[in-house]
Amino acid sequence: MSATLFQLEAHAPAKINLSLEVLGRRSDGYHDLVSVMQTVGLYDRLTVHPANILSLSCDALELAGEDNLALRAGQLLRDRFPGNIGGKLFLSKVIPVAAGLGGGSSDAAAALVSLSRLWNLRASCVDLQTLAAELGSDVPYFLYGGTALIQGRGERVTALPSPPTAHYVLTTPPTPVSTARIFEELPSDAWTDGKTTLGLAASIRRGEPVKVGRNALEQTLFQLYPTVRDCFEAVVALAPGRTIVSGSGGTIAALFPSQAAARHAAKSLEERGYHVVAVPSTTPPDWQTPCR
Ligand code: C5P
Repeated sequence: MSATLFQLEAHAPAKINLSLEVLGRRSDGYHDLVSVMQTVGLYDRLTVHPANILSLSCDALELAGEDNLALRAGQLLRDRFPGNIGGKLFLSKVIPVAAGLGGGSSDAAAALVSLSRLWNLRASCVDLQTLAAELGSDVPYFLYGGTALIQGRGERVTALPSPPTAHYVLTTPPTPVSTARIFEELPSDAWTDGKTTLGLAASIRRGEPVKVGRNALEQTLFQLYPTVRDCFEAVVALAPGRTIVSGSGGTIAALFPSQAAARHAAKSLEERGYHVVAVPSTTPPDWQTPCR
């Protein structure tokens, strides 16, 4: 996060899920998960200025409404730490929306940290984590960033050591995906014991080269959104055994041995009309490190 006297600026990274298993459905309607998440070099930018009232503007006009998660993060923080405090948030969007990359959750975590600094709240990490979990299941992870093991509904985050920089191609089909719909339709035979994902976390702890695990949401996603399956097939042909859906999709993440190989594959996928970026894995920016 960079700061001048009158503004704070945070780069809010996208994430991918290197593995995502669902253990079962909980009595509160959510699902217990085991996942390994990784931030990548694709960023929204959140700028915060002092102001008398709390407001948000966004260069993607459809995201500038009251239900924007970054604005809701500010409102929640203000309610929890009462006082007549305002702030002008400006969000510049780059991360595709409703695509399994956690952009809205990352923006919300950046808003929590930025506004607590602007307002000099001295909120502890536990305070921020509690608010983050109220905002959404992926928000707590973005208070850490980098490589992490996620458990529970998403609120239990364990930082993992950062593996050597890995190179990913992210291919996003044009259809936005509803996470709620995927979880609603998920059959119980997609539930597993979490061992693949825990094994991946253990191998990362041992310093082994990163690989992809499994994604329990993949088959339900393909049934509900057949165009995402077409996209997956195009990607997997270029990276067999190294391709996985991120989160509830529709972005497909593929791991490549070098930046040159990733760029080459990205070019050929782009020619088919998909939204494609080649990005490295990243370590947490400074605004995320206090909670690690
Ligand atoms: O928490 P969040 O609002 O991001 O969740 C979006 C949707 O995904 C919710 O409707 C919820 O039912 C589902 N979900 C779930 N289990 C999780 C996380 C999300 O069922 N651990």
